[in-house]
Formats: sequence, structure tokens, C-alpha cells
Amino acid sequence: MKDMISDHLIAEQPWYRPTGNELSLFEAAYAARMPVMLKGPTGCGKTRFVEHMAWKLGRPLVTVACNEDMTASDLVGRFLLDADGTHWQDGPLTLAARHGAICYLDEVVEARQDTTVVIHPLTDNRRVLPLEKKGELLKAHPDFFLVISYNPGYQSLMKDLKQSTKQRFGALDFDWPEEEIETEIIAHESGVDPETAKKLVEIGTRARNLKGHGLDEGISTRMLIHAGKLIAQGVEPVPACTMALVRPITDDPDMRDALDAAVATYF
Ligand SMILES: Nc1ncnc2c1ncn2[C@@H]1O[C@H](COP(=O)(O)OP(=O)(O)OP(=O)(O)O)[C@@H](O)[C@H]1O
Ligand SMILES: [Mg+2]
Repeated sequence: MKDMISDHLIAEQPWYRPTGNELSLFEAAYAARMPVMLKGPTGCGKTRFVEHMAWKLGRPLVTVACNEDMTASDLVGRFLLDADGTHWQDGPLTLAARHGAICYLDEVVEARQDTTVVIHPLTDNRRVLPLEKKGELLKAHPDFFLVISYNPGYQSLMKDLKQSTKQRFGALDFDWPEEEIETEIIAHESGVDPETAKKLVEIGTRARNLKGHGLDEGISTRMLIHAGKLIAQGVEPVPACTMALVRPITDDPDMRDALDAAVATYF
């Protein structure tokens, strides 16, 4: 495998519908090289936003899905053994820091804290990454930028970022877009007409009001797009919503009834 940073360039504009001043804030943070944390529930547009910004700023985007088995070496790199002996392979964080990419650490709280601390020297004014095994102190490329995401509320107290990690970042809160904007997003992404998209958004709003009253999480923009895509495939709206919205989100029979009733109100 080659460290091909050009593979990470985003050629075509990822469509992103702004919901507030997030574009200008992100651009200002990038100009100041202030690392950014994106907070918000699953399926609300965080990944799409980063992809759009990487394209807009003309930077390659290196994404890492964090998990608790991830080690510092998975991020930084390691020596690999091959027929010619050993050679060093940059991990995704090193690759991004070396070549001036945007590194997006997705679901960063999933990583253990002793893994997460490797980003510390990169995210203060040192902007360096010590590659201890290799004996190299990598100075980050001037264009290198770090973005992390997490879903607040999912993690237990044991699984939170250290204050010394949090306080290195500026944060942007993401949430469900206003109805009008979400309608536009659903129509664009799924191909349904605006009228159908509006109904889906209204079902979403109803379901989101059940959060904390039996539902752990509201129906996401992603789920509404799924329903729209089924409808665009010719599936009738009711079975489309049952499959894409109701069945995945809960196993509780009463909750399912409540959601089915919400669907029936609109379709
Ligand atoms: N503002 C937006 N503009 C354009 N598309 C959007 C927007 N918000 C949501 N979407 C759509 O919703 C889908 C889900 O969003 P995305 O994958 O970015 O969610 P996420 O916040 O990264 O979720 P997760 O935390 O699960 O990774 C996207 O693929 C995109 O189609
Ligand atoms: Mg994502």
C-alpha cells in the first residue's frame, strides 16, 4: 500500500446546505488553525459538512473511524515487514500532518484516552507529532488541520474526552435543521418531490418529540433520506416509512404504534 495523499482529494463538490453560520466559522477556524470539534446526533450532517469544507478549502481529507481497540500506532504509523526488510508506514494522522490534509477523527470518544493524547502536541502551538518508534519529530505541514466529531450524550462518564483534549478545540453544535431546510435536504438527497419531503420532515419532527419519552434518539435526517429513497424507488410511502423510520429505531411495541400513527397522519 502506498501513502497516496492525492487519493484523499475530493474532486467533486459534496452538496451541503448550510443551516447557520457554520461555513464562515469553520473557515475562520481553519485560517487560525484552531482545531474544530463537531458535536451532534447521528445522521445530522457532520461528515457531509467536513467533506464539503475539505473540498472548499482544496485540502485532502483523511478520515479515521475511532474505536476502543485503536492504538496510538494505528494513528501514527508503524514499521512493516516485507520482502525487502522493514519499512515505515505513516498512519492516517501522520499522513495528514505531513502532507497538509484535514484529518477527521470520527467518534473520537470511542478511542481510549491514552490513544487520544497523541493529538495533543499537534493541537497546540507546537504543531508537531513525535514519531517515537521512528525517531522523528514531524513538524506539521502549515495546511494541516484537525477536526473531530462526537455525539454528545451517547458516551458514559467513563468515556468522555479529557478536559486537556476538549480545551484544545473550538466546537460547532449540529442539530436537526429547521423544517424548511431539512425539506430541501431530503428532496435533494433522495429525489422525492418537495411535498413528500415536507411530509417526511413533519413525521421526523413528531418522532423527535418522543425523544426521552420512550425513544432514545430522534429520527435522523439520514433516516428520512432513506425513506425518501425508497419512495423514489416506487415503494408506497407507508411501507417505506415503516421500513426506513419505524422498524430500525425501536423494538418497543407501543413506540412502534405511536410512530406508525404519526406516519398514517401524513400518508
Ligand atoms: N446540511 C446538510 N446538507 C446536505 N446534506 C445533509 C445535510 N445534513 C444532512 N445531510 C444528509 O444526511 C446524511 C447523513 O449525514 P452525515 O453522514 O453527514 O451524518 P453525521 O452527522 O456524520 O452522522 P454520524 O454521527 O452517524 O456519522 C448525509 O449523507 C446527507 O445526505
Ligand atoms: Mg459521520
